[in-house]
Amino acid sequence: MTRRIVVVANRLPVSWDGEEWVTSPGGLVRALEPVLQRVNGSWVGWSGNVGDPPEPFVHDGIAQRPVSLTEEELDGFYYGFCNSALWPLYHDAVVSPEFHRHHWRPYRKVNERYARVAAESLQPDDIAWVQDYQLQLVPGMLRAIRRDITIGFYLHIPFPPIELFARLPWRRQIIEGLLGADVLAFQTRASVQNFARAARRYGGAETLGRRELRWRGRSMRLQRAPIAIDTSHFEKMAKSDAVQRRVVELRHELGDAEHIFLGVDRLDYTKGIDLRLKSFAGLLEQTADHPRRYAFVQVAVPSRENVPAYQDLRSEIEQLVGRINGDFGEPGWSPVSYLYRSLALEELIAYYVAADVMLVTPLRDGMNLVAKEYVASRRDQPGVLVLSEFAGASEQLKSAVIVNPHDVDGVTAALRAATEMDPAEARLRMQRLRRTVRKETVFEWARDCLAMLEAF
Ligand code: F6P
Repeated sequence: MTRRIVVVANRLPVSWDGEEWVTSPGGLVRALEPVLQRVNGSWVGWSGNVGDPPEPFVHDGIAQRPVSLTEEELDGFYYGFCNSALWPLYHDAVVSPEFHRHHWRPYRKVNERYARVAAESLQPDDIAWVQDYQLQLVPGMLRAIRRDITIGFYLHIPFPPIELFARLPWRRQIIEGLLGADVLAFQTRASVQNFARAARRYGGAETLGRRELRWRGRSMRLQRAPIAIDTSHFEKMAKSDAVQRRVVELRHELGDAEHIFLGVDRLDYTKGIDLRLKSFAGLLEQTADHPRRYAFVQVAVPSRENVPAYQDLRSEIEQLVGRINGDFGEPGWSPVSYLYRSLALEELIAYYVAADVMLVTPLRDGMNLVAKEYVASRRDQPGVLVLSEFAGASEQLKSAVIVNPHDVDGVTAALRAATEMDPAEARLRMQRLRRTVRKETVFEWARDCLAMLEAF
């Protein structure tokens, strides 16, 4: 990689902790950091605060170009159009998307600002790499300002089937914005196909082969590039003494249950946490003569707390946890441990190592990296991954126990099967899963995406 890259994403890869800028955790940042440092790249994004943005600055060798948002823009753009219209629409409309002109207008205006800030830091022949659903108009806006650069777009969430996308009052504008890119990359084959259909129907694009489109005299490539994790980092941490010690403590704190189940999600209605809890309650009902045999830990990371649908979901889940613990608990013991917070990485990995069964049962998910993190943390232990067929990860992690999360009884049966699985089978499945997460890491993902852009 020799060309300069400017990443354009909703958030900067750093946040202000009150005293200094600190690098945000996560595989995406870790994978891109060395590439950007090598090519003298920069990152355009929101700093996380409203009001005047900080001046551009350099952090760990990467030029940071902050974009400002006002309080009203945060409401209209982020909570409004991004997370009350696009997010539910792109996730199978599991809650009803809300379409308002007073959300669309700030979406367009804020996208224009990102495009302008990016254009200022781009030089001829550079690559602008735009990330995710918050910035779908940026590729088209950037192309209108700069014709001498290559533009990539990566969608981290699913691109919906045309029957759902058709509901969006601004579907043509979104497609035209996206078609400003030279390369459009998606998590799954299904998303690539969904986008190609929508681009034909609402943009009038022509298909040239399976992975190429032509529109207004330009051609653009479509790419399937499933995002991944820094696998060896999880492997290393999982075998550290500190994690191993914590695992022993955790199992004890969880009542030395025979089978520990784990769910780790942002508290989001796409994650299927409520149905998952009902499936677990089904298992407790079927095995009521063996109390204390099972423990279920649900970690729910607070998210988008200003959006009413997220507030409703929180009360619903907390009521459900209360009901299950009321029905099946005993003095001094509750079958469900519910943690409404994020965990430090070392603590999270200790939970992965302690868990015999990992439940990743979203109703729709672009990829779901928790599934991959669990597998990477298992090392030579078996452990069963129960995975929704509607998570992008199920296109790759085929040796998981694949379930339909809407089928509550079906998931209960899968949980039971997971606890009764022959250890040799569990080991074999886990070995296959580990082979996949070792072969396809976030570094290969970044290399593949950027190679496609550089070759354009
Ligand atoms: O998966 C999509 C995504 O926007 C990620 O990029 C992000 O880490 C996550 O959802 C949380 O989103 P937010 O930035 O809204 O907190």
